[in-house]
Amino acid sequence: MIRGYKGGVVIVSHDRYLLDVVADEIADLEDGRIAVYPGNYSEFAFEKQTRLLRQQQMFQIQQREISRLEEAAKRLLIWGRTYDNPKLIIRGKAIQKRIERIDRIDKPVLERRRMGLELEGWRGSNKVLEIRDLDKVFPASDGMDDKIVLAGLELLIWHGERVGLVGPNGAGKSVLFRLLLGQDEATGGDIVIGPSVRTGHYAQEHETLDYSLSLLDSVRRAAPLSESTAVAFLTKFLFTYEQIRSKVSTLSGGERSRLQMALLTLTGANFLLLDEPTNNLDIAAAEVLEESLADFEGTVFVISHDRYFLDRVVSRIVELDEGSLTDYPGNYSDYQNQKRNA
Ligand SMILES: Nc1ncnc2c1ncn2[C@@H]1O[C@H](COP(=O)(O)OP(=O)(O)O)[C@@H](O)[C@H]1O
Ligand SMILES: [Mg+2]
Repeated sequence: MIRGYKGGVVIVSHDRYLLDVVADEIADLEDGRIAVYPGNYSEFAFEKQTRLLRQQQMFQIQQREISRLEEAAKRLLIWGRTYDNPKLIIRGKAIQKRIERIDRIDKPVLERRRMGLELEGWRGSNKVLEIRDLDKVFPASDGMDDKIVLAGLELLIWHGERVGLVGPNGAGKSVLFRLLLGQDEATGGDIVIGPSVRTGHYAQEHETLDYSLSLLDSVRRAAPLSESTAVAFLTKFLFTYEQIRSKVSTLSGGERSRLQMALLTLTGANFLLLDEPTNNLDIAAAEVLEESLADFEGTVFVISHDRYFLDRVVSRIVELDEGSLTDYPGNYSDYQNQKRNA
């Protein structure tokens, strides 16, 4: 729709895939200034990095030039005064004028402060998850028929795999996760989680958070940390000192996501069940998550609609539709190609 639209369109979005498909110009708002880049998101990301490195080079060259001139001016002024030579003083002052007139290149911020997410993980059972003939039916209520959500599901996930779970709204993805977590009971079939597998859960609606606790207490309830260690830990996740002592309920959606990530790292899990983890994250935080998942020594099963994230993280997609699963090797783009050619 956007591509076919005749007028101009301005989109505010964290959806990098959408921006890649429809945008032909990116405006980057940072530190109160806007910079415009031709091209889509991927081109922007590359060009921004290139510009930053170029600016860094120019900045260093200019700094060297300025120190050289400053040295020269200083020498001329000292000689001028020592030998009482006004010509040298005039030359020294002229150089100082020149330095003042230089159009200064800003020092580029190469590394912005980023969320300090480290997902450790560890090697556990080879067979992490095995689902056999799993059914989930919600029984009829007030005049409605039984609701069959999962019908004979089969799935096997091995240690180290990154599996994306996709499917339309209401397909049963969150229900499946609830069954895996033991929060709800299956109607039939088996779920076997490997003996040395510890699951960690990231909940779509942040249900894992206790809104009545402060951030500090949330962390100290999750792990036996001293107050100062807990504060340092939360600071790594970019929370301010005031926020650390405030209640979870005062946080924005993105901040709640960051807190959930923080708590997830304390669980010592080697099997992550992530339900729409990038929904509230800004692009920088999503990239941190992608990188730490890449280094994670463990298994990841992630529900996501973020196609860019899926492309970077998963190597296998399972699609849940009409109660059953279909397996597709590869990332999101591979999945799309296979669907197109099917
Ligand atoms: N406790 C429940 N009782 C009845 N129906 C439910 C219950 N929980 C979920 N459902 C239904 O199961 C279907 C799948 O829901 P869900 O797993 O949340 O979808 P999604 O794939 O979007 O995560 C939906 O139609 C939802 O209404
Ligand atoms: Mg869901």
